[in-house]
Amino acid sequence: MNKTRIIFFAGKGGVGKTTTAAATAIRSAQNGYRTLIMSTDPAHSLADTFECLINRNVTAIRPNLDAFEIDPYFELDSNWGEIRDYLSSLIISLGADASLAGELATIPGMDNLFSLLRIREFHQSQQYDVIIVDMAPTGESLRLLSLPDAISLALKVTRYLEKYLVSPVIRPASKMSKSLRAVIAPEEVAKSWETLLEKLLDVRKILEADTVTSTRLVLNPEKMVINESQRALTYLNLFGITVDCIIVNRLIPDAVQDSYFHDWYSLQQRHLKNVYELFSPLPIKTVPFFKEEVIGIAKLNLLAECLYDNDDPTHLFYSERPVKIIVTKEERIFAVQAPFIKPGLIELSTRGNELMIQIGNQLRSFIIPDSLSGLSPTNAVYTDGWIHVKFQKN
Ligand SMILES: Nc1ncnc2c1ncn2[C@@H]1O[C@H](COP(=O)(O)OP(=O)(O)O)[C@@H](O)[C@H]1O
Ligand SMILES: [Mg+2]
Repeated sequence: MNKTRIIFFAGKGGVGKTTTAAATAIRSAQNGYRTLIMSTDPAHSLADTFECLINRNVTAIRPNLDAFEIDPYFELDSNWGEIRDYLSSLIISLGADASLAGELATIPGMDNLFSLLRIREFHQSQQYDVIIVDMAPTGESLRLLSLPDAISLALKVTRYLEKYLVSPVIRPASKMSKSLRAVIAPEEVAKSWETLLEKLLDVRKILEADTVTSTRLVLNPEKMVINESQRALTYLNLFGITVDCIIVNRLIPDAVQDSYFHDWYSLQQRHLKNVYELFSPLPIKTVPFFKEEVIGIAKLNLLAECLYDNDDPTHLFYSERPVKIIVTKEERIFAVQAPFIKPGLIELSTRGNELMIQIGNQLRSFIIPDSLSGLSPTNAVYTDGWIHVKFQKN
């Protein structure tokens, strides 16, 4: 069995994904794991963070530690080139301007998709014990992680069409008709399209295997960042991706006496308390606001010490998914784990895609996915540390 451990670092822009991912990578390598850190964020900053040169290929930067910054254009070209050429000629044959055809034949966000293929390759090669992925900011990454769902559907449709329509009917007919030949994909293009979809489905299996893959959500103790992280957690869980800890970065230390920063300190402490309420039972790790930028091996090492203490940074800190949706014929149930809540009378209300659950005198709010946001919650029960909220189907 392939035991390569993959750890994604996700979160809003600027919260400290690259820094915490880099610190984790250094620790992992020091612990003797063959480690690769790769960045899928087109705005790469691994080289700056490590203060070293990372060339276009996999670069050894420390003992046991390699780094790789994905070149999205190269990935796009090598994976999509053949299919894009076919689509372009098809688009031109339909009357589009040649200069536009190349653009039209590339779906936005596709470059991100091909980063996943690279992760798959490294995973399959079993060349590393640990692969650390520094991701693009949340919105982008969530799309990246959810894409395999759409792909599994596309593969089914492709296979169906190929089997019942294209192979037996259209392709033979196209031998006789020039206009049909212009629109039907040649066999090799159809094959490379199918292979691409199959590879992407493989990626999905890697993402879902919770014993080897998990995501760490990085956030700062600020309202907007916390909201977005909550939303990210809901979605990641629903896509079947395990989040194994929350990293609260840039906490002003208790020792700061300065009055200006003391206000910030109090505010952060309030937000931190909220983070514990919102994200428990997930483990929450905290990192202080350093005096200066965290750049270079020495500072990254210090940060790793704050983050993991003596723990093995590659450990899977949590493996349950605290958010689930259970769909039955009549209803949809939004289930959230909330082990530290005292049982009491439950009241529900919604505001946009936010669901507020009041249990006794405790109020908790959750971001619900779009599939539930038009529906009203009918009732809720709290058993065995889980709140089950029922939504009636229209
Ligand atoms: N705990 C911290 N204390 C001080 N500076 C930090 C801390 N974490 C990150 N930084 C700095 O903040 C900036 C942004 O961090 P970075 O990891 O690049 O964010 P992201 O990858 O989420 O966009 C960097 O200059 C980094 O050195
Ligand atoms: Mg970054």
